[in-house]
Formats: sequence, structure tokens, C-alpha cells
Amino acid sequence: MSADWPTLQPATPPVPAPAAVPDARPTVVLTHPILEPGPTVLKEACELRILPNQYRHPPELLRKAAEGARGMVTQLMDPIGDEILSTPGLRVVANVAVGYDNIDVVAATKYGVMVCNTPGVLDDTTSDFAFALLMAAGRRLLEGDRFVRSGAFKGWAIDMLLGHDLFGATLGIVGFGRIGRGVARRARAFGMRILYHDEQPATPEVEAEFGATLTDLYRLLSESDFVSVHVPLTATTRHLFSAAQFATMKPTAVLVNTSRGPVVDEAALAEALRTHQIFAAGLDVYENEPEVHPELLKLDNVILTPHIASASVRTRSRMSEMAARNLITGVRGGRPPNIVNPEVFNQQR
Ligand code: DGY
Repeated sequence: MSADWPTLQPATPPVPAPAAVPDARPTVVLTHPILEPGPTVLKEACELRILPNQYRHPPELLRKAAEGARGMVTQLMDPIGDEILSTPGLRVVANVAVGYDNIDVVAATKYGVMVCNTPGVLDDTTSDFAFALLMAAGRRLLEGDRFVRSGAFKGWAIDMLLGHDLFGATLGIVGFGRIGRGVARRARAFGMRILYHDEQPATPEVEAEFGATLTDLYRLLSESDFVSVHVPLTATTRHLFSAAQFATMKPTAVLVNTSRGPVVDEAALAEALRTHQIFAAGLDVYENEPEVHPELLKLDNVILTPHIASASVRTRSRMSEMAARNLITGVRGGRPPNIVNPEVFNQQR
């Protein structure tokens, strides 16, 4: 850990905001470490209450930590619900992620808490990673690595570890937002035909720019050789991929998910991979993170990575800074640049 990181300390008992000048240096909670310059930006303007280093804090601990705090910098492991958002005086929750399904935005809006995320800065890094998974799963990269390390490689063979070409294949992109389009941009360079499915059709100009054709999900799944998922987790997208969808896909198809785990029914995916209903998969996210379905762990035709699609030094640093700046703007009474429930700010004015 770099010396620039905040020191992790045990949770302190609730510390009320300074009484004499309540707005001078508001107390904010940092639930997990963030990268520089995030901590420096926060420390310049706020008193930091740093929680103990623990993957998922119990809601009770988060609730206690929120007492007397004006803001919280949270991460996707923190479930931020009613019991935390109702804390008197809490004004901003700044998530260090573009996804914010860990935060109950409806409750936040009800209690007048602004919720912020970090859109844009991670698009290219995540698109790169999704493309890496598409290539690695399609061309059996990790199987090849394991094969060599195990000593099984005894020389070239014409039928050894045959995979499927990306070049010239059809790519189906489910969720055609910034990251989906980033994947499309990379796919164009591979001469791929691009289909996309999204609740909101892109404009004809955008479709022309990416050479992408809007389809329904059924056609996308039945025609695609590679499918990459880029939807947020909502009630509609939970288990969007289950047995019926895998049955629709080609036996040569590859599925990649870098969005949110619960979009894919892991038990159904494991069965589809085990029975070779589809060829391979690449997963960076899981239904019950950090747990992985035990049947997936047994399979060679799935690549499993630990939610690192945005994990480049530059991008995680930019996400940290962005969350810190969102938070500071909000606790100072301004409109955070990346507020997801702007109606809260508008009501407060
Ligand atoms: C996000 O930003 O939502 C990712 O899942 C973490 O980078």
C-alpha cells in the first residue's frame, strides 16, 4: 500500500460535525480505500472518517458511521439502503463506480440525499477488458496457458485447442451505451459485423458511425458468434441471460459479461457451458460476489476474472478523484457533476 493512502483505522464512535462552524470542514465517511488523488482532494476539504478494512461492512456499522457525517464515499460492496440514507444531515453518497445498484436511489431521493457515480472515465478501460475476454475465451488463451504449464504440450498438432475467429464474426452487444459502443469501436477494427440490442435505439448517425444494427434480443442471440453484455442491473435485466437465452445461442458462441453478475443466471450458464450448448464464456462479475458458482469453477471453457474490467492504474485513480470531487461539491451545497438523482439538488435550491 502506498504511503499516500489513508491509514485504515478502527471505526470511531460517531463524531458530530464541528459545532462552531458547521460547514467549515464537514465530516465524510470513506468506506474503503481509494486511490490518489482522491484522499488528498477529500482531506483538503473534509474530516475523514475511515472505516476498518473489510470487504462488506455490516449495515449497522455503516449506519453508525453515517451519524454526524455530511457525505459518504462508497464502493459497490456497500449496500446503502433506507437505514443509512435516513441519517439526519447526510447529503451526498458518492459511489466510486459507474454502476450504483448497491444504492437505493429511490430511498436516497426520498431523504434528500444526492447520489453520484463515475461515468465516462472507465469506458475505454472496460471496453478494452471486455474485448480481451472475447479474444481470450474465443481463442482459448487460458486453456493454452494451463496446457503448457501442466507439461501436456508435446508439440504442434493441427487440431490442438481449436477456437473461433473474432475477425469477420458477428458480435452482439447487449446494452449500447458508452461501454457497449467502446466494444463496437474495437470490433470494427476486427472486421466484425455488429448487432446491438438496447431499450433505447441509437440514432441513425450513431448506428452508421459504429456500423451497428439494432435487433431484438432473440435475433441478436441466434445470429451472434460473440455476445458482450453492457447493461446496468435493474429489475428488468436481472437474469436477462438464462436457460432460454443460452438455448437460442449458437453452439460456437462466446458470452462475455463485464456489467453486473446478476444479469446472468450462473447456474444456467454453467449448464450451458458444461453441455457445450455454447462454446465459452468470460466473466468478470458474479451473481453473489465474491462467490462464484461452484459449477463454473469446474469448467475449462469459462474464464473467470475478479471484477477488474476498470482496473487500470490511471482509470481507478481517475474514478477515485471523480468520486471525491462529486462528494466535495455536494457537501459544500453545489450540484455534483455526476449526480444520478438531480431532482434532489433542484428541490434543495
Ligand atoms: C463500475 O464502475 O460500475 C464497475 O463495476 C467497477 O469499475
